[in-house]
Amino acid sequence: MKTIENKIALVTGAARGIGQAIAVQLAADGADLALCDVQADWLEATAAKVRELGRRAETYAMNVADGTAVGEAVARVAADFGRIDILVNNAGITRDTLLIRMTEEDWDQVLDINLKGAFLVTKAVVKFMMKQRAGAIINIASVVGLTGNPGQANYSASKAGLIALTKTTAKELGSRGIRANAVAPGFIRTAMTDQLPESAQQAMLRLVPLGRPGEPEDVAQAVAFLASDNAAYVNGQVLTVCGGMVM
Ligand code: NAI
Repeated sequence: MKTIENKIALVTGAARGIGQAIAVQLAADGADLALCDVQADWLEATAAKVRELGRRAETYAMNVADGTAVGEAVARVAADFGRIDILVNNAGITRDTLLIRMTEEDWDQVLDINLKGAFLVTKAVVKFMMKQRAGAIINIASVVGLTGNPGQANYSASKAGLIALTKTTAKELGSRGIRANAVAPGFIRTAMTDQLPESAQQAMLRLVPLGRPGEPEDVAQAVAFLASDNAAYVNGQVLTVCGGMVM
């Protein structure tokens, strides 16, 4: 069933990994896609997959941490598509190291992209959603935003902040017909987790009752549900997609 037929979706960090899988799933469910990434030249691969599914895809260079760039790109999306129904704040980075060794730059880079970036894109997009009196926002957080994690003081704080941003957005904009929810993935196989040492990957896997890492598509299915009217009464929630790693 095409649950989001002809809706317009903007996905950040859409060039690869979870963002690419989200874009492809939303297209499979009937949406047209505004694909945004700081690595704009990588976006063509995602665009080709969306177009193969018979949906429209346009690509936009966007560093989510740069308010001016965000404002310009979102205005172009709105001009190109006429509206924005779904926003997925997915762009994110890690700069892992123990707190005692973490530099101010490690902290600032991660908070700027993962948390301030979501704020900037949300602010730019909700202007259009408020006029439409409808919209669905899905923020890609992480289970470590709920639990904390050694070596990820910056990253876990950014994801905890993103969860609080989600809840505040849900409370401020619910009366305008805009829903905001977070998806908190566990250990998902992407370029981000491939860079972890094998021992760290095995240690994480031991914590997963399902006994396997998640795939980007596992996360994409949850996002597609929250973006659709099947989730019309789901607002301000955190949906973990982690094989039971955190409960
Ligand atoms: P990835 O590193 O494969 O992809 C991230 C994408 O974001 C890349 O295309 C990158 O170019 C883009 N990006 C980075 N900085 C950007 C910026 N300043 N502006 C715009 N785009 C930018 O990562 P992955 O694994 O696909 O992660 C996607 C999201 O899922 C992130 O928010 C991450 O924190 C979250 N996540 C991932 C988990 C995992 O196990 N892979 C677990 C929990 C959450």
